[in-house]
Amino acid sequence: MPVHGLTPILLCLLPSWIILTQVSSHPQHSRCQLKQKAALCNDAKLCYVPPGLPDYIEEIQLNYNQIQTLQDDSVLRYPSLKTLSLACNSLEKIESNTFQDSKLLESLNLANNNLYSGFQETSHALKQIPGLRALDLSENKLDGEMAATLLQNLTSLEYLNLSGNLLLRLDENSFKDLHLLKELDLQRNIIFEIDAAFKSNRKLQRLNLAFNYLPCLTDFDMSQLVVLNASHNFIEWFISRQDINDTFQLETLDLSDNKLLFFPFLPSYSQLRNLYLSHNTIMFYEHLADDTTFPNLTNTVEFYNMKHHTGNVTAQLWDDSLHGDISSIEILDLRVNQVKYFPKGFIQKMPALARLQMWTNCLATLNLTFEQFSDTLYELDLSNNRLNQIVADEGSLSALSNLTYINLSLNNLQQFPSRLFSSLSSLRSVDLSYNNVNICPSEEAEISTDTIPVCVDWKNVASLKQLYLKGCNLKIIPASAFTGLSLTHLELSDNPGLIVEQSIHCLSRSLQHLGLGNTHIQDFDFSDFHSLRSLNISSNFFYHLPNSLLNLDLKVLDLRCNRLSTIPSGQANTLSLKLHHVFLTGNPFNCCQTEWFRTFEAKKTVNMVGKSDLECKDIVQVTHRVEHFQSFLCLHQDGESIYWYILLFLSVSLTCVGISIIALLTFKSKMLRMSIKNKCLKPTSY
Ligand SMILES: *[C@@H]1O[C@H](CO)[C@@H](O)[C@H](O)[C@H]1NC(C)=O
Ligand SMILES: *[C@@H]1O[C@H](CO)[C@@H](O)[C@H](O)[C@H]1NC(C)=O
Ligand SMILES: *[C@@H]1O[C@H](CO)[C@@H](O)[C@H](O)[C@H]1NC(C)=O
Ligand SMILES: *[C@@H]1O[C@H](CO)[C@@H](O)[C@H](O)[C@H]1NC(C)=O
Ligand SMILES: *[C@@H]1O[C@H](CO)[C@@H](O)[C@H](O)[C@H]1NC(C)=O
Ligand SMILES: *[C@@H]1O[C@H](CO)[C@@H](O)[C@H](O)[C@H]1NC(C)=O
Ligand SMILES: *[C@@H]1O[C@H](CO)[C@@H](O)[C@H](O)[C@H]1NC(C)=O
Ligand SMILES: *[C@@H]1O[C@H](CO)[C@@H](O)[C@H](O)[C@H]1NC(C)=O
Ligand SMILES: *[C@@H]1O[C@H](CO)[C@@H](O)[C@H](O)[C@H]1NC(C)=O
Ligand SMILES: *[C@@H]1O[C@H](CO)[C@@H](O)[C@H](O)[C@H]1NC(C)=O
Repeated sequence: MPVHGLTPILLCLLPSWIILTQVSSHPQHSRCQLKQKAALCNDAKLCYVPPGLPDYIEEIQLNYNQIQTLQDDSVLRYPSLKTLSLACNSLEKIESNTFQDSKLLESLNLANNNLYSGFQETSHALKQIPGLRALDLSENKLDGEMAATLLQNLTSLEYLNLSGNLLLRLDENSFKDLHLLKELDLQRNIIFEIDAAFKSNRKLQRLNLAFNYLPCLTDFDMSQLVVLNASHNFIEWFISRQDINDTFQLETLDLSDNKLLFFPFLPSYSQLRNLYLSHNTIMFYEHLADDTTFPNLTNTVEFYNMKHHTGNVTAQLWDDSLHGDISSIEILDLRVNQVKYFPKGFIQKMPALARLQMWTNCLATLNLTFEQFSDTLYELDLSNNRLNQIVADEGSLSALSNLTYINLSLNNLQQFPSRLFSSLSSLRSVDLSYNNVNICPSEEAEISTDTIPVCVDWKNVASLKQLYLKGCNLKIIPASAFTGLSLTHLELSDNPGLIVEQSIHCLSRSLQHLGLGNTHIQDFDFSDFHSLRSLNISSNFFYHLPNSLLNLDLKVLDLRCNRLSTIPSGQANTLSLKLHHVFLTGNPFNCCQTEWFRTFEAKKTVNMVGKSDLECKDIVQVTHRVEHFQSFLCLHQDGESIYWYILLFLSVSLTCVGISIIALLTFKSKMLRMSIKNKCLKPTSY
């Protein structure tokens, strides 16, 4: 076909031609979908703005097309246009007069294009839009100079997205005309320095600087800012101007994934509610503040930048009483840091604290009496620390009336007020996994007053729903351990040798999830656990699936690493009607008894997790994938097949013996040969 050379051009002409012909024939547009006053022409292989749309159109979406240049006349016939979206084209420039009549245009999305190549001309075009409020220039390979040129005189702009470009440095010229700017996204550039860049943006409320290369944020004085996101940089210092008396409007500060050594120096007056500091190396240095022990410690840090140094930003480095205003903080996320202790009065300064997240720090002890958490505390996550002691008196515990979630897993708890949990009236979820704790026997719990026994007790905490006691080295659970509770989740996995049955019987009505993995149990009567939806009995010694499971309405069943050789058809059929997820790997299944596999496989609602990894052994102990095993190798479904193997083996050996005898006797008389042939080489019936 001779068309080949023309194909690209044709492809480009085709869409507009189709639109034109369609316009002349009837008013619908095959490439664009009209929805009220919007034309949706996304992903339509267009090279131009379609010319045949109604002139009252207010929004045109042209994302994912092939427009390279927006020509002077491309939107002239749409004077009502308010929103134009051209993301993900290969747009290189917008000709200077494109928007001469677009008096109403407010929002322009140019994300993911190549505007770096025609930024000069494009900047002239943008200047003609008198009321542009939102501009997306993300992913356009723009450097700082190009961006500054494009943004000149865009005085009406309120939302600007410059993420994913090549900005290196911001200074007072970067955004100087954008007096009304409210939101600025600068994520994923390569910014390493900011020098007085936001002086003229007095209305800026949301600033995103995530994923850049900033080494510090000092002299922070943007009191109007509400959200600052500077996560994923290399920030070692965050220092606000301490001499500003205005209340900062800052509500959310995200400094996670940085290099902070110190808790940030926050503004003296602020409304900060959410402070995200995870994945830094923050610790507190109150122990160094003492001048007599460390007389020569420097108190000041100097910060320089490329143009001129900003002078001495003095920070009282070791004085942890100077964290600025933290009185409105509700969420404090300090996960993955190096905190060993909280400085004196630190927690008390946060009377609104609701969530404290301390996963993976170095806390060694927690004195609740000393810290004085407020009654707003809702979630306390102290998992994966070095806690060996929790101290609390009656008063400090009863103050925690709103504490709902407490995670103490992965610690080394040695001392513990046994009444800790019974005193917390709103408690719903407790995780004590991977501590060596015991459950108090009933009598002792009432006698013991302070922290001596390492035993816990939650008798009659009616609110408690979820209890996690994985890997606690538990051997015996006292019969009365769960009386008065109505748990929905109980996790007792990884306590090898645990004796459990009697104690959890009182939970049989409420329990929805039960974890008994790796407890070395061999059998269990589940018949009363009518609410159970999820059961984990992996890594145990079940040779048969308990029949008591069949009456339950189980959705998730983990049976991995047991001793099951098969699941009888009746059981498999019943289970397959209910289960959504079943885990079966690691059992010594018999290849010749895998009917259950077809049953589960045939049910589309059952997900056999790790299905292709399921293995079985055949009669001679060779391992196969259940999925690929050919069942004709088993002559009978039941154990009799082994006899057939033996018979087969015998007949083969007999034949071999016969052949050897023939070979031996080939020298002997033909008569003898004939007779042997007649006797032994009859066709067998196998
Ligand atoms: C920007 O606006 C100012 C004042 O409104 C005007 O003097 C200047 O020429 C404009 N600059 C450009 C490049 O259009
Ligand atoms: C800015 O653009 C990027 C990439 O196009 C996008 O992921 C991000 O959500 C945008 N920011 C805002 C505030 O809309
Ligand atoms: C900060 O930005 C990062 C990257 O876009 C995002 O994952 C994170 O959720 C943002 N933080 C907040 C508090 O919104
Ligand atoms: C802040 O207040 C203090 C005392 O109230 C005053 O001495 C200082 O000059 C004020 N600073 C500013 C920048 O207004
Ligand atoms: C502190 O500085 C003084 C004078 O410079 C010096 O004599 C002293 O040894 C220093 N002390 C310590 C603990 O380094
Ligand atoms: C900063 O303070 C130190 C000690 O107070 C002083 O030696 C230094 O000259 C100061 N630097 C500037 C730039 O003011
Ligand atoms: C816990 O704090 C209280 C109040 O500050 C104090 O009296 C008590 O000695 C502390 N307990 C321990 C073990 O540090
Ligand atoms: C307790 O927590 C709930 C849920 O977070 C909240 O609505 C309530 O106001 C809190 N109560 C107190 C006294 O802070
Ligand atoms: C408690 O913390 C550990 C470690 O961070 C986590 O794996 C576990 O899921 C948490 N427990 C609950 C109940 O959220
Ligand atoms: C069941 O418990 C074992 C042992 O704790 C654990 O490894 C496994 O992930 C659990 N199964 C499910 C489905 O959560």
